[in-house]
Amino acid sequence: MKYLVVGGAGYIGSHMVRHLTKAGHQVVVVDTARPRPGIAWVAMDIVDGPALDRLFGEHRFDAVFHFASFIQVGESVADPGKYYQNNVAATLSLLQAMRRAQVNHLVFSSSAAVYGDPLSVPIDEAHPKAPINPYGRSKWIVEQMLGEFDQAYGLKSVSLRYFNAAGADPGGQLGECHEPETHLIPLILQAAAGRREAITVYGRDYDTPDGTCIRDYVHVSDLASAHAQAIDYLRAGGTSTAFNLGNGQGFSVQQVIDAARTVTGRTIATLDAPRRAGDPPRLVADAGKARSVLGWQPAFSSLEQIVAHAWNWECKYPWH
Ligand code: UFG
Repeated sequence: MKYLVVGGAGYIGSHMVRHLTKAGHQVVVVDTARPRPGIAWVAMDIVDGPALDRLFGEHRFDAVFHFASFIQVGESVADPGKYYQNNVAATLSLLQAMRRAQVNHLVFSSSAAVYGDPLSVPIDEAHPKAPINPYGRSKWIVEQMLGEFDQAYGLKSVSLRYFNAAGADPGGQLGECHEPETHLIPLILQAAAGRREAITVYGRDYDTPDGTCIRDYVHVSDLASAHAQAIDYLRAGGTSTAFNLGNGQGFSVQQVIDAARTVTGRTIATLDAPRRAGDPPRLVADAGKARSVLGWQPAFSSLEQIVAHAWNWECKYPWH
């Protein structure tokens, strides 16, 4: 198959590219940043419709994976225009170009952020969608657009609602690197590596067993395999839908720090700080639908293993 991976230079996108090329597929990456060497790359902002038309004219893609989005919740509150422009308007431009080129299969990177502050956990796909910030709202708007694009134009899509993507390629060549980094596990490991003094714990007064927030960490390689299964599902005639991707097990911030201490053998200093605005106390997935409909089976559901892969990469590429 020949696939277009939009955002294939990023954290999850680069793992997807690796998964697809290892399976023998042809891949073209569109990204404003450079992907890993050896991957066909078109430097482009997908808001540029004519450039997309040229690309779709040059290649006959079987499907599109769309990973490109801004992901910082706090920034989305401070600058919503940036988020609606990049996450919604640019995605609309991609969808329009797909229509023009009659490429009818898309897998879209959505987020648990579409649920907002959950009414109960674990969260299944039927849980009300009530995003509490522009980042989450941008994902939910796109999901709704995708439903309408299917009804009106027959564009079939799967939205994958990631919980907390984490870990790194077990081979140690790819890993997580955001600029700036805001995610818990890479920040803990930077502290373990001595690249920062301490990990700040945002809030110890939540209504959870140890008072810190609970999240469902899902290995990035398992996210990649779910995307591949989502394409198989669409190619087999599956209807447009959304799936949660998580392990169904919640770990608190303190438990993640403890796991990192075990994995790294380092002390890892902590610094207590007030709650971070907009953090729900618990996010845990019910991913039963992905398991039953897609046949998804996460390979790395142990937190220690997820942290160990991230640590392996952190140690190999400390300059990232
Ligand atoms: N945390 C800390 N200290 C830090 C960083 C994070 O205590 O330095 C805590 C947060 O308060 C939160 C937990 O660790 O309780 C996880 O935080 P992350 O920033 O790693 O991830 P989020 O849970 O905020 O992830 C959310 C959504 C995702 C979305 C992502 C966007 O759950 O769907 O934001 O980056 F993709």
